[in-house]
Amino acid sequence: MKITVVGAGAVGASCAEYIAIKNFASEVVILDIKEGYAEGKAMDLMQCASLNGFDTKITGSTSDYSKTANSDICVITSGIPRKPGMTREELIGINAGIVKSVSASLVEHSPNTILIVVSNPMDTMTYLVHKTTDLPKHKIIGMGGALDSARFKYRLAEALEAPISDVDGMVIGGHSDKGMVPLTSHATRNSIKVSEFLSEERLNQVKEDTKVGGATLTKLLGTSAWYAPGAAVSGLVHAIACDQKKMFPCSTYLEGEYGLNDLCIGVPVILGKNGIEKIVNVPLSDAEKAHMAESAEGVKKTNGLLEL
Ligand code: LAC
Repeated sequence: MKITVVGAGAVGASCAEYIAIKNFASEVVILDIKEGYAEGKAMDLMQCASLNGFDTKITGSTSDYSKTANSDICVITSGIPRKPGMTREELIGINAGIVKSVSASLVEHSPNTILIVVSNPMDTMTYLVHKTTDLPKHKIIGMGGALDSARFKYRLAEALEAPISDVDGMVIGGHSDKGMVPLTSHATRNSIKVSEFLSEERLNQVKEDTKVGGATLTKLLGTSAWYAPGAAVSGLVHAIACDQKKMFPCSTYLEGEYGLNDLCIGVPVILGKNGIEKIVNVPLSDAEKAHMAESAEGVKKTNGLLEL
């Protein structure tokens, strides 16, 4: 199993680290445009191998896509991250050009790859890859919902004063401050609906804290987060590489599912060796349905800024 991660910044390096630590991949290639940077990160990570007990071989390259040839899975983290006060949508001007050329180069060298998009605005970047490469839709996956769901579970556990392992929940919709749809109607503690334990007001607070999960960290860190994004990507890669048939909310191209068409947005999917093996239709409350429709409108508005 060969995995390429494009972008050796904090998110890309965290992805590579978490993938290596899980020890399921034979090879991880990191690519960056900054001379020597990916090589340096790869060497630093390889020097963790004996300490952290993994055998994954990590190599780095400065922009040489031939090194990525025949990757089974490629992850795109390239582009600029947001600064405090910015929305993810504001990154489109710079990131669209980068994601378009990176995805074209990756597919040229790995025509059968599964591609995971992390760059923001993620749903629109996933749509761009869908529109500009020949990859089938089940091989184009946007990473957002897995991260947003992890942040939702963190906030739920905090509100419930429970360990995170007691808590389950999902966030669907767009990966944006307004677009995320935390499914509070389905969230549980040990299979009991969280609404049994939390007031509507407290649940609404959990929802709002979840939606600005990335923005809160960007304000604290001065740039966007990397540990949880890296861990979330590694979860998707692991599910595909080991054919786990695990369910994650991911951004995928919709053709009528959830009443939506011609956009990529977060919905629950089953991930296995073929990428997205199934889109799962979950019943939504009326409020969640309305929020999902609003979220889709927001994503489509951002898609409209693309020069396709
Ligand atoms: C975040 C970035 C990855 O939410 O969008 O932290």
